[in-house]
Amino acid sequence: MELLIDRLTKHYGTKIAVDCVSANLSPGVYGLLGENGAGKTTLMRMICSVLEATSGEVFFDGHNVIDMGADYRNILGYLPQEFGYYPDYTAMEFLRYMSVLKGIPRKKAVNRSEELLEVTGLKHVASKKIKTFSGGMKQRLGIAQALLNHPKILILDEPTAGLDPKERVRFRNLLADYAGDKIVLLSTHIVSDIEAIADHVFVMKKGGFVTQGTVSELVEQAEGKVWELEIAPKEVHKWEKKATISNLRHEGERVVLRIVADEKPSPQAVSCRAALEDLYLYHFPMKEENLEGRFLR
Ligand SMILES: Nc1ncnc2c1ncn2[C@@H]1O[C@H](COP(=O)(O)OP(=O)(O)O)[C@@H](O)[C@H]1O
Ligand SMILES: [Mg+2]
Repeated sequence: MELLIDRLTKHYGTKIAVDCVSANLSPGVYGLLGENGAGKTTLMRMICSVLEATSGEVFFDGHNVIDMGADYRNILGYLPQEFGYYPDYTAMEFLRYMSVLKGIPRKKAVNRSEELLEVTGLKHVASKKIKTFSGGMKQRLGIAQALLNHPKILILDEPTAGLDPKERVRFRNLLADYAGDKIVLLSTHIVSDIEAIADHVFVMKKGGFVTQGTVSELVEQAEGKVWELEIAPKEVHKWEKKATISNLRHEGERVVLRIVADEKPSPQAVSCRAALEDLYLYHFPMKEENLEGRFLR
């Protein structure tokens, strides 16, 4: 099974939201990591053929997914970032309704809905109206609806948004259980969410992939760029202005900064082991300019 993304591009007027992105996905869990505005949602919507690409194509096992039509939708599960819930539906009614839209036969739909309410921890609120749900509960219901048709391709746009730490762990386990021989793509701007579950991570910035690889390959890329520096508390502000700080901790009267930089930031700095968060900060230093995208000339 293979999902081929071939030079997908999306322009909004002169704005380039996704810029000639290609990837070849075989079964596994893929993380799409990037800050707001990087193009994650636009890319995912094109992969799901919910949004028409300006150019480029998506192929499932050699077939253009647009030509596949319903055959593609039948093997696809999608959690959009902005998901429309029906506040007056109960959780069970909502899943039944989504099953109808997905063309799942009634009996199957009931069984599958019950199963998914169970695995997402919503069984006890199955007959409660969605308007009474917390953000995390709604999100879990959104994940459940994406799984209704046992999709071979599962695309989740910021699935952990609104989940508390316990729900995150549950989600991670659910996904690990489900993934198996499926293609799973999830987006997030939270590094720790994909560190534990993604086999392969695409780091997306300004509409394109700036780097990609396994978590350990990406961590490897940050090795030699992470430093610790002990300073006096009054120097913190100065360092915050001139360096990318990935962590700050107090040690007695002193402050220890963790700095991400190509070069040793100060003669007193000592090199230390990298983590995925450091690579992310390396590509996304906290500067205003990174919030802006790319434009056509
Ligand atoms: N419908 C739209 N019209 C114009 N610009 C858009 C539209 N949707 C997204 N964009 C722009 O495209 C870029 C990528 O957005 P998006 O795909 O939502 O990124 P992400 O999901 O990574 O936050 C952003 O700069 C955003 O403002
Ligand atoms: Mg988004």
